[in-house]
Amino acid sequence: MTEREQELIRLAEEEVEKNKSVVERDPYRLRFHLMPPVGLLNDPNGFIQWNGTYHLFYQWMPFKTGHGAKYWGHYSSADLITWKHEPIALAPSEWFELNGCYSGSAIEHDGKMVLFYTGNVKDADGNRESYQCMAVSEDGLTFDKKGPVVELPEGYTAHFRDPKVWKKGAEWYMVVGAQSEDLTGKVALLRSADLVEWQHLGAIAGSGENGLGDFGYMWECPDLFELDGVEVLVVSPQGLKADGMNYQNVYQAGYFIGKLDYGSATFEHGDFVELDRGFEFYAPQTTLDKKGRRLMVGWMGVPEQDEDKHPTIKHKWIHALTLPRELKWIDGKLLQVPAEELTQMRKATLIELSKMELSDDKFQLPLEEKRVFELHLSLGADLSLLELAIGEAAKLTYDASSNVFSLHRKSFVIGEWEMRSCRLTQLTELQAFVDTSSIEVFLNGGEEVFTARLFPEHDASDAVKVCVSGTGTLMKMNAWDL
Ligand code: FRU
Repeated sequence: MTEREQELIRLAEEEVEKNKSVVERDPYRLRFHLMPPVGLLNDPNGFIQWNGTYHLFYQWMPFKTGHGAKYWGHYSSADLITWKHEPIALAPSEWFELNGCYSGSAIEHDGKMVLFYTGNVKDADGNRESYQCMAVSEDGLTFDKKGPVVELPEGYTAHFRDPKVWKKGAEWYMVVGAQSEDLTGKVALLRSADLVEWQHLGAIAGSGENGLGDFGYMWECPDLFELDGVEVLVVSPQGLKADGMNYQNVYQAGYFIGKLDYGSATFEHGDFVELDRGFEFYAPQTTLDKKGRRLMVGWMGVPEQDEDKHPTIKHKWIHALTLPRELKWIDGKLLQVPAEELTQMRKATLIELSKMELSDDKFQLPLEEKRVFELHLSLGADLSLLELAIGEAAKLTYDASSNVFSLHRKSFVIGEWEMRSCRLTQLTELQAFVDTSSIEVFLNGGEEVFTARLFPEHDASDAVKVCVSGTGTLMKMNAWDL
């Protein structure tokens, strides 16, 4: 480790110590989500199960609640529930990463954990350079930086970042988020036999490619994987205009289902589908674990979307990661299901109720004093209206006559109600994870997901009043303390 790297790590650790008490005093601090110990967290990085242990790194700016020269923070877990904050994995100390060790991924090779990430460099005039770098670890805790292994290929601007690497047959492949010289978003594919020499094979998807029209000026954080017989390209495009219920956030995160032809380096695909319909979700990353599950974690935030207005800023931290979800491809649908381990988080049963007719009268759930819980509803085929109020901060509604499901929340910027919606032909199941300042809602076994931060205006001791009303049959309801 260079002296500069040691110094940067020391400074970040000092910052954590210095601000510990102010950060931890925040009533909005989450109970079962991964957060930065101080400062700003954004993308999940390097998600891998290595030697049995899950490792999840994250983009981290320790010195302020804005973006800047990112570090890689590091969490590890045996069970996806209890996480340990590990020593800093990467600090932006070298010439090829001076303005940030940007997003990337992890693989296992010869028993070692190998990281690929973007070295972000900006000169005094704001000119950008980007290097795809490699770092190798024998113990999963300390990383030996090998420097750049990919220089910018021809045809792209320096917005070329977020390498995701995987193995197919005897070769390694890498997708990189990119902007081509005509200022449109792309995904570049590269190949290597030894992880060190990489050959650029071309852009496999992007704005104006494969029959897609204008589709943004930059595509970030690509991830390409096989899932139950199809291939999925997950990507976060920037520059899409809001279109009805779609693309409501500042930037999007979604996927294309398709087929990658490794020989010709082409990817035929269908339409773009948003992964999450809520307010805060971006830059997800997946990994294949030893059980053969495709797990995904996202950033519970969106770049430039009122980041400077988050109420946690006064406690010197901002953002969190989502819960881990398992992806499944079933009957032509991509489902996102909370990782099964999460059921182990359940403590006391708070509600266990079967069959009940909903009515206009709000039925208050016995969740007194609970700010953190999991709630399940199974709904009858006769459901025509549902409203679930989560305190004063959020409401979930479904209207069968318009087939619209919505998540409403009190804006943390102007205090007015705002909503995100999607169409759903039927609502049969609703599963919500409520943390002190977040909600993740899974509908119909993961057909649609809504993730959002909620900042209820009460102090930590107040109860959240959860009420349900509507027309139709509630077949079953369960809730657990978490
Ligand atoms: C996505 C992103 C990535 C980049 C990282 C920097 O949120 O902009 O493209 O690598 O964040 O923190």
